[in-house]
Amino acid sequence: MVITKTMAHNHNHQINSGRIAGAASSSSSFGNLKRVVGMPLAVVLFSIIFFFKIPSCFSQLTRLEHQVKDDGSLSLLVVGDWGRRGHFNQTIVASQMGRIGKELDIDFVVSTGDNFYDDGLKGPHDPAFEESFTEVYTADSLQKPWYTILGNHDYRGKIVVGHHAIRSAGHHGDTEELIQHLLPILKANNVDLYVNGHDHCLEHISSHDSPIQYLTSGAGSKAWRGDTKKYDERVMKFFYDGQGFMSMQLTNANVEVLFHDVLGQVLHRWKVSKDLHSSM
Ligand SMILES: *[C@@H]1O[C@H](CO)[C@@H](O)[C@H](O)[C@H]1NC(C)=O
Repeated sequence: MVITKTMAHNHNHQINSGRIAGAASSSSSFGNLKRVVGMPLAVVLFSIIFFFKIPSCFSQLTRLEHQVKDDGSLSLLVVGDWGRRGHFNQTIVASQMGRIGKELDIDFVVSTGDNFYDDGLKGPHDPAFEESFTEVYTADSLQKPWYTILGNHDYRGKIVVGHHAIRSAGHHGDTEELIQHLLPILKANNVDLYVNGHDHCLEHISSHDSPIQYLTSGAGSKAWRGDTKKYDERVMKFFYDGQGFMSMQLTNANVEVLFHDVLGQVLHRWKVSKDLHSSM
């Protein structure tokens, strides 16, 4: 069993890199990724970006290509801010992820960061890795590649994953540096979805001036902060202060995003037909 451990995640969020391969995968971390060249519709590009706080450009992306299912679809779960040795409902969220993961036959899991509280892993043998990851996400359906940190997912559309929110009504609120430095890059690249953690909640915010949707999934364990900020109701689609996770189903025609609570129940559903997007 080969496990690529995440680099210690520093809770100051300066370093937020690395990846976790499927907890029980028996081969190499990306053993089930296959590079298929020249078949853009048959593959999904999944890119992982390693950077410090603010990306200077997209050229740092390492692209990995993920094969889609026979019907051309792909499913995944998104969870963030989770590693607390099972506490704060982490274990319950994990078991619901297992259930939904099985239902959707997920291809992989994306983690939006803050993987090991409080200060990340102390080294390659830190038991926190087992206590907060391997022994918590035990369902068969979750034994898939786990992609942590910032990524860029390109499936006839673009999804960028980061840790910090660009827009959020949660505790930390909007991140001005990202609005200034990252958002123009996302717009220029016709990004459709920006997915993040950091605020310990689930939320969906849309935009006035672009098709970009902001999706926060940072509720993998400790939540219920109770300090929601007032937000423009025209763009605020959904906010939930408690625990949960997000699932996504991507097909050639549609992207469907669901937010689930600690019991796995669907709290919010958003679906978009890719045909509607001029950027596709
Ligand atoms: C666990 O989840 C339940 C249901 O949402 C909630 O009532 C409870 O406060 C949560 N516990 C913690 C420690 O957050």
